[in-house]
Amino acid sequence: MMFGKKKETPQIDKEQLELIKTAQKRIKQKRSLYIHFVLFLIGSVAMIVASLVFDVGVMVNLFGINWFVYAILIWFLILLYHAFSVYFTNKFLGDAWEQEQLTKLVALQKERIAKLQQQVEKNNPLPTEKKIPLPSSKKSEVTLIVAAGENDEIGKDNQLIWHLSDDLKRFKALTNGHHIIMGRKTFESFPKPLPNRTHIVISRQANYQVPSGVIVVNNLEDAFDAAKSDKQPFVIGGGEIYKQAMAYANKIELTRVHETFDADTFFPKIDTAIWKEVNNTNHPKDEKHQHAFSFLTYIRG
Ligand SMILES: NC(=O)c1ccc[n+]([C@@H]2O[C@H](COP(=O)([O-])OP(=O)(O)OC[C@H]3O[C@@H](n4cnc5c(N)ncnc54)[C@H](OP(=O)(O)O)[C@@H]3O)[C@@H](O)[C@H]2O)c1
Repeated sequence: MMFGKKKETPQIDKEQLELIKTAQKRIKQKRSLYIHFVLFLIGSVAMIVASLVFDVGVMVNLFGINWFVYAILIWFLILLYHAFSVYFTNKFLGDAWEQEQLTKLVALQKERIAKLQQQVEKNNPLPTEKKIPLPSSKKSEVTLIVAAGENDEIGKDNQLIWHLSDDLKRFKALTNGHHIIMGRKTFESFPKPLPNRTHIVISRQANYQVPSGVIVVNNLEDAFDAAKSDKQPFVIGGGEIYKQAMAYANKIELTRVHETFDADTFFPKIDTAIWKEVNNTNHPKDEKHQHAFSFLTYIRG
């Protein structure tokens, strides 16, 4: 049926059920205490009447006190114990009470651990990520160039997530004439190699076929080695390569797209204890650009 009504299943969560059960248990306990109390009153009166009116057990008296006084006293003590167990033992020492105490204790321990951790970190600051020197003796300035969303999103289904022409223009201007290092997947996301740049493609495949002019290497260090004639080689992605290349880089040219996106590939988090922002230029959203973005430059501080 097209507009069939969806059958509603009653939804009581576990916690609510637990609360209801506890409430029901408490009611039962209190009711039994009340019945006990009424029985005690009736029983006491009955014992007094039996003893005084019908002379039951007149011979039984201890220290000159009538037997029913002892009987009522003992019963009263039992009743008191019953009341104590309903109002104290069950309320304060029951399962729920125990759970509450446990939660409090765990929270307290967690707080203590956090304080200790803070103290340890303060006394022994973690070493900041060390830069890995390049394999060649030549001093190149390795630059990562990337466009990422607010949550560091960079790609989905081996494609970029946006089209921002001014960002592409900047990418072309910055990388023009340079070596561009990339992972095999990023290389395959291009329709064809970009003009006026030397492409270095990293792949673990032994026999990866590429158009002439494109260099294939089997690891990152060989990629830097292949780019050693360039003073500023660029690492252009994607996610796997950025993650590995971050430790070799001196500079990050980041286009921060001011939006969050559905993505499957991400740029690693930029640690501001290591990277200092030295430029921040905003580009608003306009008819050619669906999203606002900023050009940020970071250098290793
Ligand atoms: N927003 C941006 O600025 C930007 C820039 C570039 C890319 N992207 C996006 O990022 C995504 C692609 O990134 P990705 O992480 O999936 O792939 P990727 O980093 O481009 O390439 C991964 C491949 O590189 C090779 N590789 C990685 N580490 C290696 C190593 N240590 N030694 C040898 N080979 C190695 C492997 O190739 P084999 O499998 O052949 O061994 C691996 O499959 C796409 O969506 C793309 O559009 C975005």
